[in-house]
This record gives sequence, C-alpha cells and structure tokens, in this order.
Amino acid sequence: MKAKKTTPQGNKEITDLILDSIADGVFTIDQGMRITTFNKAAEQITGYARREVVGQFCHDIFKADICFKMCPLKHTARTFESIVNMEVNILNRQNQEVPISISTSILKNRKGEVVGAVETFRDLSLIHELRKEISRQYTFQDIVSKSKAVAKLLNILPDVAQSDATVLIRGESGTGKELFATAIHNTSLRKKGPFVAVNCGALPETLLESELFGYKKGAFTDAKRDKPGRFKMAAGGTLFLDEIGDLSKGTQVKLLRVLEQREYEPLGSTSTEKADVRIVAASHQDLSSLVKKGEFREDLFYRLNVMKLEIPPLRDRKEDLPLLVDHFVRKFTEKTGKRIRAVSKRAMKRLLDYDYPGNVRELENVLEHAFVLCKGPEIKTSHLPENLTPSNHRTAPQATGKTSRLPELEKQVIVEALERYGWDRSQAARELGMHRSTLWRKMQRHGIEVP
Ligand SMILES: Nc1ncnc2c1ncn2[C@@H]1O[C@H](COP(=O)(O)OP(=O)(O)OP(=O)(O)O)[C@@H](O)[C@H]1O
Ligand SMILES: [Mg+2]
Repeated sequence: MKAKKTTPQGNKEITDLILDSIADGVFTIDQGMRITTFNKAAEQITGYARREVVGQFCHDIFKADICFKMCPLKHTARTFESIVNMEVNILNRQNQEVPISISTSILKNRKGEVVGAVETFRDLSLIHELRKEISRQYTFQDIVSKSKAVAKLLNILPDVAQSDATVLIRGESGTGKELFATAIHNTSLRKKGPFVAVNCGALPETLLESELFGYKKGAFTDAKRDKPGRFKMAAGGTLFLDEIGDLSKGTQVKLLRVLEQREYEPLGSTSTEKADVRIVAASHQDLSSLVKKGEFREDLFYRLNVMKLEIPPLRDRKEDLPLLVDHFVRKFTEKTGKRIRAVSKRAMKRLLDYDYPGNVRELENVLEHAFVLCKGPEIKTSHLPENLTPSNHRTAPQATGKTSRLPELEKQVIVEALERYGWDRSQAARELGMHRSTLWRKMQRHGIEVP
C-alpha cells in the first residue's frame, strides 16, 4: 500500500501532537512578537487556553518581571543567540506569581529565513518550595539564624520577653547580646517604654554609680543640679546592664539592694525612688566561674540568673554564615545604594573558612570593608581584609600537646592590629570587630602595653 502523502494541514496536526506530549511549556512567536503556537504544558503552567492566546502579544500573556526590561525572545530574535535556563517570574491567569526557567532559540523556515522565535519553559514552583524548605531560617526581630542552638533561644524568646523576669545573657564579644536584649525589650509589655543601656565595664566605680542612680544637687562639689540616673531614665522600660561581670564589689552590693527592694537612693538624697525597670544583664564572662573565684557575689548572681540565655560563638554555628552574609549584603546595599548582589564562590569560601574571634560583629565589619572596596556587582576575595586567612593556616604547625595556643594567637592578632593603626585603639577594635572596652580588657589580660 502506498503511504498517504502528508498535507501541510496533516503536518501541523503532527507537530501539535508532538508539542502537546512535551512536559515543558512551549510557545512560538512571529516577528511581530505575537504568539503562533502554545502547547498543553504551557496552558497548564499559565492557566490560559491556546485559543485565548494565539495572536496575542506574548508580554500581555506572560507579564514577566523581565518583559519590558530585557525580553529574552527579542534578544534572541535580534542577536540569534539562544538563552538557556534563565529564571524569571511570570503571572498566571489568576495573577499569581509563578517562577519558571526559560530557554529560547531562533526559528527559521526551510529557506533559512527567520520567521520568529521559540521559547520553552519549565515550572519551578515545586523546586522553589523545596529550596525554601531547605533554607528555612529562623528570624525574630532582626536576629537571623538557622542554627539549632539559636533556634532554641528564639523559640523561648517571646515567652521570656513577656514575663518581666530578669534575664542574663552570656556570649562572647560580638555574638549579639545587645541585639537579643533589644529584641526582648521590643516584644515585651514594656516596649512603649525606653530601652536604656549602660556599659558597666566602661566607667570607674563612683562615676558608674552616679550614672546608674543619679545624684541630688549638692551631693558633691560639681553637682550643681539634680541629675537623673539610668534607673530613672529607664522607668517603665528596660535597663540593659552590659558587661555586668565588670561591676566592682561595692556596686554589686548596691545593685543587689535595688533588685531586692525595687528601690534606690540617688547620691546625696535622703528619700528613695522606685525602680520601675526590667533588668536585662549581659556578660562575655561566665558569671558562675567569677562567683567561684570570689569576684562576683553569689546572691547577686542568683538574682540576675532568673532566665539565662547563652549565645554560642559564630565558629560553633558556621551554618549561619551564608545567611548572615546575605543579611549584611542586603543591609549594606540598602545603606550604601551600591548594587552589590552576590559574593563570589572563592570569597564565600574564604568567609566560611575563617573563625571570627570577633563573632558576628567582625563578620559585619568584614562585609562593610568589602562594600567600600567593591566597585562591581560581586564581592571578590580582593575586597576582603587581608587578615582574613583561615584560622588553620595560623595554627597549622602546632598539632602537638593539648595546651591551646589560642591566647598567644589572640595576643599576636591584637598587637598586629594595634601596630597597623599606630596604636589607635578605636580603629584596631573596629578592625578586630570588638568593642573598645573589650579590646582594652584583652590588652590588660595579655599585658600589652602602649609603647
Ligand atoms: N543573629 C544575628 N543576626 C543578625 N545580626 C546580628 C546577629 N547577631 C549579631 N548581629 C549583629 O552583629 C553586631 C554585634 O552584635 P551586638 O552588638 O548585639 O553584640 P554584643 O554581644 O553585644 O557584642 P559586645 O560584647 O562586643 O558588646 C550588631 O550589628 C548586630 O546587629
Ligand atoms: Mg554589646
């Protein structure tokens, strides 16, 4: 039997059948950007029926985020270059956003003349949902994390915040103690009241006491008028006592009395004032070991330690690094207006390999530094500070014995930073990602003297 000759009409039917059996969406356009074919999968992904779209402009159907910025089909029609797996968002018939991956190529007829272009596209909704699930992160206020240890803290934080109980936050320098303290305040019943912070390590005893409790006119020679203390300024709100481990024994007694009796006397005053504050205290030191050494009062420790939050150092939760990098890149993009979108693979590896003795604050400073130097859309290794060498490079030669060389290394790093900045403590502290008072303390501990 002679095979039946296919007519042009029959040809089209076969082509449609083939197109409809493909799982990807496929459509073609003519040179005027109007849709000429539209397969079944395209109908399913977009929600439009073939008869509604044939003859329409493709941008009216797809309403993609890039239609008017950089139309991939126009690009292909103009340059003959194909586009492969570009991710874009379109709006479906119900006006819901659908992420798709598109590929384009030019369409020529048998004579080799361009007659239009073809686009295939794949629905990425499921992949996006899975991706989201995998990268699920915990956020509470401005705290970003995906580590289990921090998630546990964030879980209890709302209850802690609502309770009005005294909170003790422990964490190394730059781990986010103050950030947690403000998050507690902002979600507490006192959120409309003030949040007042005092660094207990930054002032000598007498100054700190007048700062905390205030004084009355004439309490001492320079007291020309009444001065309210931080307890008064924080009334109705939260008083954040930072570096509480640095309190002198004398001030510890006075603070204990305020916590027990909920009242205090300003210097030179004969009457007492009510202390209507919620106390959140923080320390980089472990207070219970200070108690054992006799440097911190046990009774005050128990008063403070009602709710304890322990923030782990960044090196113990490296899974947070990509997230924090992203967070700070976005923050500095907003702040500087620079269009930096990404961190190169090598730069990211460098960031992941480093140990961050200055914790999150150091990471933040590293990225701020990179933003200053970076002129293009991507942060590269050349934009990172030179001292960001992997910690194992520095410690590599010593695999012997159990004694840690960490203190020695810390001393070395601090001296180097100080030398680099001509012993300017503020600048060195900034580079090291620690507070000035922390640097000062570490200098004292290591016996580093300013030449
Ligand atoms: N989990 C986090 N998510 C987002 N930002 C964070 C996080 N942890 C810390 N930061 C940021 O890092 C910086 C340092 O945090 P913070 O000042 O709260 O640390 P700290 O423990 O009080 O440090 P120090 O002991 O040096 O006073 C801040 O800019 C803070 O916003
Ligand atoms: Mg702090």
